[in-house]
Amino acid sequence: MFDSLWVNVHAATMAEAGSPGIIKNAAIGIQDKKIAWIGPQKEMPQKPEPLSEHVHDGGGRWATPGLIDCHTHLIYEGDRVHEFEQRLQGLTYEEIAKAGGGIMSTVKSTRTASGQQLYDSALVRIQALLREGVTTIEIKSGYGLDVATEEKILRVATDIHDTSGLRIQRSFLGAHAVPPEYAGRPDDYINFVCQDMLPALHQKHLVDCVDGFCENIGFTRTHIEKVFKRAKELGLPVKLHAEQLSNQRGAALVAQYGGLSADHVEYLDEAGVKAMAKAGTVAVLLPGAFYFLREKQLPPVDLFRQYKVPMAIATDHNPGTSPTLSLLLMLNMACTLFRLTPEEALAGVTRHAARALGYQDICGTLERGKAADFALWDITHPRDLCYYFGRNPCMGVVRAGCLCDFESSPPLFFEQRQAVF
Ligand code: NIG
Ligand code: FE
Repeated sequence: MFDSLWVNVHAATMAEAGSPGIIKNAAIGIQDKKIAWIGPQKEMPQKPEPLSEHVHDGGGRWATPGLIDCHTHLIYEGDRVHEFEQRLQGLTYEEIAKAGGGIMSTVKSTRTASGQQLYDSALVRIQALLREGVTTIEIKSGYGLDVATEEKILRVATDIHDTSGLRIQRSFLGAHAVPPEYAGRPDDYINFVCQDMLPALHQKHLVDCVDGFCENIGFTRTHIEKVFKRAKELGLPVKLHAEQLSNQRGAALVAQYGGLSADHVEYLDEAGVKAMAKAGTVAVLLPGAFYFLREKQLPPVDLFRQYKVPMAIATDHNPGTSPTLSLLLMLNMACTLFRLTPEEALAGVTRHAARALGYQDICGTLERGKAADFALWDITHPRDLCYYFGRNPCMGVVRAGCLCDFESSPPLFFEQRQAVF
């Protein structure tokens, strides 16, 4: 007996490398929030009705694993539309940051916002992602840069996890920028991050992972290495914003610390790719930031293929460099801008994105034993998700076996709710 059973769907399991793993006319049986059976419906042991009290007819829709947005900065106050205009006038992202704008302008507004304000605005963003089939989201802090505000952001991320029903990973990004009270003293700030901020937040169970920004306008390798050492002492996995605007050999550093992912990586060289391959570090590609900053340097996709470094795709949602809330648009951009194949792009928001979060045993594919997280689509083949842009064919989202009610906020999931297609 299954808690619920989906029939009359076509599944793209994403379980094998290099293929969408298509099962036409599939059935998916769910037990204890996990996939208990998946395969062609005609191979099911019995007729559907006796197998479950809750049989859902998928109406011939396609089911993919629930999408995973493995890199976002979703919790912040205010926008940076003024900087968008400045960049259109010819200023660069670095110039704006050096003049006190950029990350610092979002830090200012986030420090004065209440937790409730941050929760409310983040929830609207979460709903937009969910509406496109996203069931797992990574959220970074990094717009506080003091203990109180970093805590406020990470508590909001925790509340979103508890109230939205979505799976959230919380990354501490204290090493994002030097806050005004430490101006000109990055070493002191990094010591503060390592000795005070990170241990305090970790002790409050608010941190799942540790991230940093290794860049000319961010922190040096030496700074980042200190943070990584501290993270390892605390037993926390690491990841890094690396090689976004220049080659700082940050990806090799994060690989050296067994990191989950190196993100952006446009300026990465072959030595860095090799180091990532050896460590099993995922390359997280962020076409939204590349596009929005009108960057020219492409990530080394051929080298990732050659050395078998898994590529993930994410929105990098943030107010400065990637104010998008469409992971589907990122699929299209990963193909058009970075020349990924549709299969690679789809793996980038499912199987490989799960791995970028260390969740490869939990979600990211439709397989027995994995979470019953899936999205239902009005498409004729999974590659359609990469082909269309500005069209959302998502018809339903199932998270932990329960169908989402898109109308309610925070979202609600119902085991018994009958799918209506
Ligand atoms: O992923 N590069 C650093 N962090 C963000 C941007 C943050 C911001 O500009 O607010 C990124 O692009
Ligand atoms: Fe980012």
